[in-house]
Amino acid sequence: MYDHTYGYDPLHGKHEVIVSTNACVSDVREALEPAYLYSLLRLTKKLELAHNYDALIKALADEIQIVTGYNTAWVYLLGDTPNIAHLLVAQENVGITDKLPSLDINNDAFLQEIAAADHIVIVEDARTDPRTDKEIVEMLGNRSIINVPIHLADKKIGTIGTGSFGDEGVRLPSKEQLDYFSAMASHAAVALDRLRLFKERLAAEQAKVELQKQLAHVQRLESLGLLAGGIAHDFNNILTVITGNIELAELELDADAPSRPFLDHIGLASQRGTDLCNQMLAYAGHRTAQPEPIHLSQSLQEMASLLEVSIAKNIQVQYLLDEKIPTMHGDIAQIQQVMMNLISNANEAIGNRDGTITVSTGRLQTDQTFLDQLSHRYNAVPGDYIFFEVCDTGCGMDQQTREKLFDPFFTTKVSGRGLGMSAVLGIIQSHQGALSLDSELGDGTTFKVLFPTTSQTVSDANNDQTAL
Ligand SMILES: Nc1ncnc2c1ncn2[C@@H]1O[C@H](COP(=O)(O)OP(=O)(O)OP(=O)(O)O)[C@@H](O)[C@H]1O
Ligand SMILES: [Mg+2]
Repeated sequence: MYDHTYGYDPLHGKHEVIVSTNACVSDVREALEPAYLYSLLRLTKKLELAHNYDALIKALADEIQIVTGYNTAWVYLLGDTPNIAHLLVAQENVGITDKLPSLDINNDAFLQEIAAADHIVIVEDARTDPRTDKEIVEMLGNRSIINVPIHLADKKIGTIGTGSFGDEGVRLPSKEQLDYFSAMASHAAVALDRLRLFKERLAAEQAKVELQKQLAHVQRLESLGLLAGGIAHDFNNILTVITGNIELAELELDADAPSRPFLDHIGLASQRGTDLCNQMLAYAGHRTAQPEPIHLSQSLQEMASLLEVSIAKNIQVQYLLDEKIPTMHGDIAQIQQVMMNLISNANEAIGNRDGTITVSTGRLQTDQTFLDQLSHRYNAVPGDYIFFEVCDTGCGMDQQTREKLFDPFFTTKVSGRGLGMSAVLGIIQSHQGALSLDSELGDGTTFKVLFPTTSQTVSDANNDQTAL
């Protein structure tokens, strides 16, 4: 039976060239006995139905066994990657999309020769051949080994291997059997090419579906952005009227007027409404930016006392701030909103447990490879960046949450509105920044936000302003 394991290398051993396969397949067929011809007919039918490598190798192995008596067969597929062969062993490789075990033939001269040979290569007795790896022969019980090249047009795409093992003893194939193997290899070539095309079509279809999904997602987000931006804008105007009128009403009232608390409540609710609008406007990129040079570490220090009151007592906050980082150019209110949103999410992810939030800043030189690995990089180009990182020891996220995390109105919290992270993205995008996310369920979360640096310092900007 076909009882080899992955990585099995039946090719170690001496070989010699017995037969050239330059002969035309139809010449070979004419010379074959009926038993071989019937076998090839059966094989054609089986290969037509073979929709995966497993069925293909099984069809080859069955026919080899029936007509030649060799009980084992395998195929080496030579892919487009040089020096890599993929091994198919009957009953081991299931499904066309499965990753085939691959062998690096770089350090295996014999396997390299088999891969390069245009003729059938035969090892008569693997035990006595001086070039055989005796350990492998001992382990696998190799006796005779036959390797038949598979050609597709003028390209070699693999080899069919068969041979005898253990008690089967040394057994060389007859001339007719070799002709039969050659004919079989040309049938296998067509079937393998069909499988390759089938696999490519499958991959192309999957890629198309994936692209359509992404496109639909982007379109959905775009229209949500438009909607959110439009609503937030109108709503903001309404809220301005409300807060303005509260202030006017308060002016008219005595300090101890009984209706004052009601006005205070309206004021608080209006403030929450304004915050919400700001998040929506940030997500939609509709907020008017007031760019100035920003020193991330200094901004965080300024926010520290504000953060302290909003973070639960069971949570320790560590600051690893690099004082020497250059500045970035941006809207300070929006950048602080990014910091607040990330830190409050970290706080909520830890919840009632004990935990730590580490907030760090630093400088980073990025190249294209680095940027390509980031989950969100928008128009970021390689260069000098400063970063701001929030790392928490909270609940972390599963894949489903990671995929939806930035969608507006996506939340897993009872009282969440799902706008924090979409606002973060909107702000990062409008600041030519980038973001990376690292999170596993039960294993905390790290967000790293990158912004391009400027050469201007905060004091330069202050001087500029005084000069004006
Ligand atoms: N640090 C984090 N750890 C674990 N999950 C997180 C973290 N940050 C965000 N999430 C997940 O992403 C979801 C969306 O976050 P987002 O900030 O957009 O909304 P929210 O926090 O639920 O509501 P809000 O609008 O009040 O911010 C969260 O509900 C949570 O499931
Ligand atoms: Mg949030």
